[in-house]
Amino acid sequence: MQRTLSIIKPDAVANNHIGDVIKRFESNGLKIVGMKMIRMTKKEARGFYAVHKDRLFFDSLTDFMSSGPAIAMILQGENAIVKNRELMGATDPKEAAGGSIRRDFAVDKEKNAVHGSDSPESAAFEIGYFFNSLEIVE
Ligand code: CDP
Ligand code: MG
Repeated sequence: MQRTLSIIKPDAVANNHIGDVIKRFESNGLKIVGMKMIRMTKKEARGFYAVHKDRLFFDSLTDFMSSGPAIAMILQGENAIVKNRELMGATDPKEAAGGSIRRDFAVDKEKNAVHGSDSPESAAFEIGYFFNSLEIVE
C-alpha cells in the first residue's frame, strides 16, 4: 500500500470536473483517505512548488495555483504514485494519452487539471504540506 498527494487544480474545479476526476480514482483502485478544499495563497503555492523555483514557469504557475479553490486529496492503493501518474497523463494535455484525466479535462500545459506526487519522497513532503495525521482517515 502506498499513498500519494493529488490536487484537483483551480481550472478543473472552476470547470466543474471535481466529480469527473474523483470518479477516475475510485474506478481504478485508488481510495481517498484524506480530502479538503483549499485556497492556496501565493506564498503557499511557492512553498508547495519550491522544487521548481528556478524554472521560467514558476511565477505563472504559482499565480495560477493560488487563483482559486482546489481540492487536495490523499490517494491510497497499490503503487498509488505511479498509478495516479498514469491516470493523470502527460503534463501537456496535447501529449497526454487518450482517456487520461489531463487529455479529457485540462485546459493547457499549465492549467492541466491535476497534480500528482512523482516519488515517495515528494509524496511524503506533499501529504504533510496539507494534512496532519488526524486528517488521514481509513
Ligand atoms: O505536474 P507534472 O509533474 O506533470 O509537471 P512538472 O514538470 O512537475 O511541472 C509542474 C507544473 O508546472 C505542471 O503540472 C504545470 O502546471 C506547470 N508547467 C508549466 O506551466 N509549464 C511547463 N513547461 C512545465 C510545467
Ligand atoms: Mg511534478
